[in-house]
Amino acid sequence: MSYLHKLHASSFGPDFQWGVAIAAQQNEGAHLDDGRGLSIWDVFSRRQGKIKGGGKPYEACDFYYRYKDDLMLVKALGFSVFRFSISWSRILPEGVGRVNREGIAFYHRLIDECLLLGLTPYVTLYHWDLPQELQKQGGWTSHQMLKWFTRFVTVCVEEYGDKVKNWIVLNEPMGFTSLGYMMGMHAPGKTGIGNFFPAVHNAALCQAEGGRLIRSTVPKANIGTVFSCSEIIPFTRREEDLLAAKRADALLNRLFIEPAMGRGYPHEENFPLLDKLHLHNKAWKYTERMTFNFDFIGIQNYFPLTVKYNALIPYLHASDVKAKVRKVPHTDMGWEINADSFYRIIKRFWLYGGVKEIMITEGGAAFKDQLVNGVVDDAKRTDYFQQYLSAMLRAKKEGINIKGYFAWTLTDNFEWSEGYTARFGLVHVDFKTQLRTIKNSGYWFRDFLRGS
Ligand code: NOJ
Repeated sequence: MSYLHKLHASSFGPDFQWGVAIAAQQNEGAHLDDGRGLSIWDVFSRRQGKIKGGGKPYEACDFYYRYKDDLMLVKALGFSVFRFSISWSRILPEGVGRVNREGIAFYHRLIDECLLLGLTPYVTLYHWDLPQELQKQGGWTSHQMLKWFTRFVTVCVEEYGDKVKNWIVLNEPMGFTSLGYMMGMHAPGKTGIGNFFPAVHNAALCQAEGGRLIRSTVPKANIGTVFSCSEIIPFTRREEDLLAAKRADALLNRLFIEPAMGRGYPHEENFPLLDKLHLHNKAWKYTERMTFNFDFIGIQNYFPLTVKYNALIPYLHASDVKAKVRKVPHTDMGWEINADSFYRIIKRFWLYGGVKEIMITEGGAAFKDQLVNGVVDDAKRTDYFQQYLSAMLRAKKEGINIKGYFAWTLTDNFEWSEGYTARFGLVHVDFKTQLRTIKNSGYWFRDFLRGS
């Protein structure tokens, strides 16, 4: 697919929403200020060897204090929508019960500032930062999760529902349940099916219940939830690789969208483990409660995966053949760059039928950016955006109802287990001084949005 023609935002139509996305834990810092309670990431990051370079999210980009400046940057780059998340433990330090008025006030200030600048807020309710107090009682594996989540969502929508109409219930449930409760690579560092399955089931229930709570409280709400997705490409046409790809697909792409759409958990012939999920939690009883008619779905696609049979991987019996090994273009995190695959995965989610609107709620790439004489020449990131936005335009022109795109992310920030070593921002951050410098890709985006 050629993308060499000059690309302009206007090709996407006047109503297309262009934004940037951030997340509380990755940007805010101020982890103990004004009565905030600890989150699972504050605690997990203290564990030896869990975060590359030993980075902690305690200060991050200091967004809690610098939000006005950062919103000015969003404006200066020409975006019109802004996605951020609410830190659960900032507004409910123990997770439930007592509300922290100072935390509540922060998000009022942030929302008011967005509105003052003419930026439409998109608020993510849960972007991976569970209060530590709830983790002590089992976190996402606890059967109390739905009750706790209900409390959190209710506080948020009652407080901010007059001003905020666009809500995202969960960010990438597959991400936080698999990395955090199966593989132990993310907070809270739990492992095994015995943790993973209950976490999945509670997340699937909260996903739908959150939607219902917003619908019943916020008039004219626009409600979505966000799925991570990756096109799964079999390494060879051999039967064993084809089947491995199907298993990976069921797990990585189907596990959360299908229950939301009323289909229950996916069933895959050669992946009996998934059927245990049905039985384990008697999930078949909950099909209806896991269903919600979302106004839009958010899609986040960072890479396709090329998958082969691997007997050594428990349950899944599949593993990916890295982009580096296959010698195909990839980011500095090793994630394959493949815009055609982005096009195909958008199409795939659209073809589910029943999806009303798609938002690309995140898209971006990490490179080892260097600040030299006040300039960050990140041509690879600009190239990435050109390719991916062209692919998105192709999907849109074919009639897929894509309504917006959020670049990930505004400023370099705390990239979970990669700490501060992976830079995704359109704006460079010197984490010692908090100095911001717009990268060349940021200027490219500004010109693209202006149409110049
Ligand atoms: C998706 C997550 O939502 C976000 O928090 C993360 O930083 C990006 N992926 C990049 O890994």
